[in-house]
Amino acid sequence: MATTTLTKAEDRTAVGHAARIAHVSKSFGGPEGQQLVLDDITLDVAPGEFVTLLGASGCGKSTLLNLVAGLDRPTAGSIETPGGRPALMFQEHALFPWLTAGKNIELALRLRGVPKSDRRTEAERLLELVRLGGAYGKRVHELSGGMRQRVAMARALAQDSQLLLMDEPFAALDAITRDVLHDELTRIWRETNVSVLFVTHNVREAVRLAERVVLLSSRPGRVAREWTVDIDQPRRIEDTAVAELSVEITEELRGEIRRHGQH
Ligand SMILES: Nc1ncnc2c1ncn2[C@@H]1O[C@H](COP(=O)(O)OP(=O)(O)OP(=O)(O)O)[C@@H](O)[C@H]1O
Ligand SMILES: [Mg+2]
Repeated sequence: MATTTLTKAEDRTAVGHAARIAHVSKSFGGPEGQQLVLDDITLDVAPGEFVTLLGASGCGKSTLLNLVAGLDRPTAGSIETPGGRPALMFQEHALFPWLTAGKNIELALRLRGVPKSDRRTEAERLLELVRLGGAYGKRVHELSGGMRQRVAMARALAQDSQLLLMDEPFAALDAITRDVLHDELTRIWRETNVSVLFVTHNVREAVRLAERVVLLSSRPGRVAREWTVDIDQPRRIEDTAVAELSVEITEELRGEIRRHGQH
């Protein structure tokens, strides 16, 4: 096991959690009556842990993340995030186009209560952290897709939350840019004590990033299986160990999709 993994594990207190999802179910009302989307999900994220939630399209991943973010309420069960309100990052960057990269980050700092005099220095530090030093004055339309996601990551980090919720944040990027951002996210996660709950339907991405992969079934979403990823970081998406575990998980995912008639 990598030293870093041990350090991370040692950092974790024996008790406590970044998120505790207990027996959570969620139904939505529609023209055909109530639709059960999530069924009895129980999942803890430890402080400093990196967990990926993997599942087929429509299985309820975003629904679950939104519940953890507090954007919606479960129909049954409970969700606790003892470290306070989590930060959320979506597939689309959701930056304000009329603000510069720096001002987008400063907005999050303002909402966090950081004094005005400290905001610029902190925004520049966060831009350095995502390797975008010098982009402070750039407007959103002047940035590439990968750069926008970096700013979005910096803005999420500006909230200084103990839990970072990420919903397919790199799905719209090309493979090379995604690869670079995987490295950056792993580095930032290791440098900070943040816990990450990362949603994806990309098995390789899940294995590349996570300490633990949780597979959700479809219709309704339930925890089907989970894997501890005992592969040294930094990993590469093409590493043999990553590929082997991905094959095993893909088999399970295929089984889930076949069982529920999705594609
Ligand atoms: N606000 C809502 N009202 C009604 N139904 C909803 C609502 N939000 C989600 N659903 C339904 O819940 C199910 C799960 O949706 P969700 O967006 O959580 O899936 P997902 O796993 O994130 O899929 P994808 O990988 O495509 O993003 C879908 O059938 C969807 O139509
Ligand atoms: Mg989704």
